Order: sequence, then C-alpha cells, then structure tokens
Amino acid sequence: MSMASDGGNKMEKRFAGKTALVAGGGAGIGKAVALRLAREGADVAAADIVPEAAEATAAEIAGLGRKSLALKLNIADIRDIAAAVDRTVAAFGGIDIFVNTAGIVQSNSFLDVSEAEWDRVIAVNQKGTAFAVQAVARRMVERVPEEVKREGRADRSYGKIVTFTSISGRRGRAYQLAYAASKAAVISITQSAALAFAPYNINVNAVSPSVVMTKMWEDNNREKERAFGIDAKKSSDEFIARIPLKRPGSLEDMAAAVAFLCSTDADYITGQTLNVDGGFEMN
Ligand SMILES: NC(=O)c1ccc[n+]([C@@H]2O[C@H](COP(=O)([O-])OP(=O)(O)OC[C@H]3O[C@@H](n4cnc5c(N)ncnc54)[C@H](O)[C@@H]3O)[C@@H](O)[C@H]2O)c1
Repeated sequence: MSMASDGGNKMEKRFAGKTALVAGGGAGIGKAVALRLAREGADVAAADIVPEAAEATAAEIAGLGRKSLALKLNIADIRDIAAAVDRTVAAFGGIDIFVNTAGIVQSNSFLDVSEAEWDRVIAVNQKGTAFAVQAVARRMVERVPEEVKREGRADRSYGKIVTFTSISGRRGRAYQLAYAASKAAVISITQSAALAFAPYNINVNAVSPSVVMTKMWEDNNREKERAFGIDAKKSSDEFIARIPLKRPGSLEDMAAAVAFLCSTDADYITGQTLNVDGGFEMN
C-alpha cells in the first residue's frame, strides 16, 4: 500500500490515479479539502470566484507533487460552470470526485431581507449547487459504457460528489431566511442527484458543519452584529458553547469527512447528509 508522509502522520493514498474538482477551493473548507485529496494522491482542480485564491491552492497542490489546475468560477453562472468542468476534463481526462464548498452566508432580520439579497444567496448556494452537480454528473455519466446504462447496474463507481449544507439547512433560522432556505435545498438537491445517478454507482452526499472558523463564520458574526447589535465575539462564543463537543470544527475535521465520503469505504452511502458538527444536530 502506498503511503505518504503528512506532517508526521502516515497517510494512505486512497485517491491515487483519481481526479478531483473542488469548487470554492480557494479558501476555507474547500482549500483544506483540495489539499487533503491531493495529499491522498488525487490530481486536483481548484475553482473559485477569487482567481488568486484558486491559484494559491493550485500552487500548494503542485508542491505536493500532484497535477493541479486553477480555475476562475462564479458558481452562480451556468456558463462559468460549463467552462470550469470542460477545462478540468480537458486537463485531467475526466472527473472522479467533485466537491462543492462554494457558498455565501446571510444573517439579518427576516423582515429586512431584500429581493436582491434573497436572489444573491439562492443563486450561489442553491442554483450553483444544482447546476454544478448537473454539469459534473453529465461528464461522469458520459464515461459509463452503453451496456451498463442499458442494464442500469454499474460494475464500478463512476464518481463521488459531495455538497455542503449546514446546520441552518436542518431547521429554520429566524435570522437566516435565504441562507437556511438555500441550505435546505442543498439537502434536497443531494438526494435528487443520488437517486438520479445511483444506477451508475455515482455517490452523492452532503456534509453539514456547525461552526468552522473561516471567513464565512466571521462574515456571519459581523452581519449579526450589524443587524442586531450583538457583539460578534460574544455571539460566536455563545454559539460554540451550545455545541455538545464544545469546540468549533477544524478544517481537518471537514476534509477528513469529505475524504471518507469520496473513498471506497463509503461506496454504500448515498443521498445522505452527514452531520460533522460536534453533535449539534442528531437527525
Ligand atoms: N464555516 C462555517 O462555520 C460553516 C458552517 C456551516 C456550513 N458551512 C458551509 O461550508 C462551505 C464552505 O464554507 P467556508 O466556511 O469554507 O467559507 P469561506 O467563505 O471560507 O470559503 C468559501 C469559498 O467559496 C468561494 N466562493 C464564494 N462565492 C463563490 C462563487 N459564487 N463561486 C465560486 N466560489 C465562490 C469563496 O471565494 C471562498 O474561497 C459553505 O458552503 C458553507 O455554507 C460553513
């Protein structure tokens, strides 16, 4: 079995020979996921609305000795999605793994949510997830032989897809009308895709974090401060105190869960939303 050194830990190369596209791979959870997949042997394309961030991730992946690609992607734009998927397939020959972490948060009073704010959040989180999964799955299905398509039972896995929802997608949030709706939709989109692509052994699952100390969590607390006058640090501390494991999730907690879902260990898991949230939600 091939092993690689990983900061003192011996890491198995579960994704040797695999190719991955990570949308939102320029920062936060997406960057951690992209690097984790690369450390475990995958060639990885990092796509992000901030091109320099995607380039920085791609440079780190190349530094790990893997093939990498940096892509500028606005996931709310269907043409951008098509271009990113086409470029990844052209560079790597196909996509085995797709992870979408691209997303934006919204926190303010229900009564103050504007149409523009709603449209912006839904376009990125909900529409972006749906059409990115569609574009990647189309390429995954293209690789399925005709006889397998006829029989509707796959001989092997034709892909792994992981989306990102949130504890805010598990139940309503008074202060996150658009964000919570978009994240609930991600759970539904994940289930629909899992059913649509199950005949090809394409597994589609969602990860649901609670708190991870990224720019998004800062944005969330700053928006709450602005809308409700709650001190951002106090609000963050109080939220974390409600997590049964009493700490935020780390980037590595998220990357490890994604890597599991993309591995053969998760071949019999599809359509699920995995809470990686310190026990905040239990359903
Ligand atoms: N951080 C948390 O506490 C938390 C909690 C629950 C769920 N999540 C979910 O996890 C995912 C990742 O969040 P994060 O904390 O890493 O956020 P982040 O803000 O740190 O990173 C998000 C990345 O997505 C990119 N992005 C934003 N809009 C984009 C667009 N339109 N097209 C392409 N890329 C775009 C950003 O540039 C950034 O690199 C999100 O879907 C988020 O909703 C995060």
